[in-house]
Amino acid sequence: MTQRPFGWTGALVPVIGQGTWMIEGSAEAERRAADALRAGIDLGLTHIDTAEMYGSGRAEEVAGKAIAGRRGEVFLVSKVLPSNASYEGTLRACECTLRRLGTDCLDLYLLHWESEHPIGETMRAMERLIDDGLIRFAGVSNFDVDQVRAAQSALRHHKLASNQVLYHLGERGIERRLIPYCREQEIAVVAYTPFGRAKFPKPLSPGGRVLAEIAQRQGRTVRQVILNFLTRLDGVFTIPKAGNLEHTRENAGGAGWALAPEDIAAIDRAFPAPTRDVPLAML
Ligand SMILES: NC(=O)c1ccc[n+]([C@@H]2O[C@H](COP(=O)([O-])OP(=O)(O)OC[C@H]3O[C@@H](n4cnc5c(N)ncnc54)[C@H](OP(=O)(O)O)[C@@H]3O)[C@@H](O)[C@H]2O)c1
Repeated sequence: MTQRPFGWTGALVPVIGQGTWMIEGSAEAERRAADALRAGIDLGLTHIDTAEMYGSGRAEEVAGKAIAGRRGEVFLVSKVLPSNASYEGTLRACECTLRRLGTDCLDLYLLHWESEHPIGETMRAMERLIDDGLIRFAGVSNFDVDQVRAAQSALRHHKLASNQVLYHLGERGIERRLIPYCREQEIAVVAYTPFGRAKFPKPLSPGGRVLAEIAQRQGRTVRQVILNFLTRLDGVFTIPKAGNLEHTRENAGGAGWALAPEDIAAIDRAFPAPTRDVPLAML
């Protein structure tokens, strides 16, 4: 699996990781999801993304089981809910997340989306967590450029490491200002929902046909083409969610090769990025 520097942090992180939203469910579904996460780690998909929100903590517990005994292999990320993101609330939420994940330290802790609690309070808690060794890096999610700047200014003695945002072929607005700003600041951009939650694009749509042609030419699958395209720029990572082994294996094949310039041009034509600034899209 191709790895690249995670912004300024010095950490080397695989360009394709694994999401965990909705991995919780029946015992059988959770067993399959945990097996898929472990197989993904074997394949180098070691960036595991979770959140206290997912299944009200259950996704963290399932992820915790999946990484048991393998913590050292994983770049582990979780998120605090905005409603918990006061200074004390962030510290408490992190403690619960660590317990559910069965670990004593997260690699990255994110504010899930903008909070009504002042950003200065949340970032002060993030700095305390770093100083106490409970998280290595602090970041945000669903932040536009101005919000990223505000989070950066709120940090006193640590730097913002990452911004996790919606990015798929139908939502390319971040290519205009957010990705360039984050790359310039060496803030890692993590693309969530790379497949538009499995709804995008439809195989028989004109765009779906373009992707199928590229996939055939490259000897890859459409999903592998999508993941390769979304991670074509340095500083950008993605975290597809897969609930079974076959999907995880397929997703792992999205890196380690390069689309040809004409493939990228064809995708640009079929799924154009906006030609003017648009508000940050989020789920
Ligand atoms: N920060 C945020 O606000 C935020 C918001 C949304 C998501 N996220 C993170 O990003 C992760 C990914 O986003 P997402 O879960 O919304 O959607 P996604 O990864 O775009 O799509 C997940 C869907 O794609 C299917 N899928 C995955 N690989 C496949 C394959 N190879 N072949 C066929 N189907 C495949 C999955 O099915 P199976 O389950 O059957 O494999 C699932 O239904 C989340 O799990 C979460 O960790 C963050």
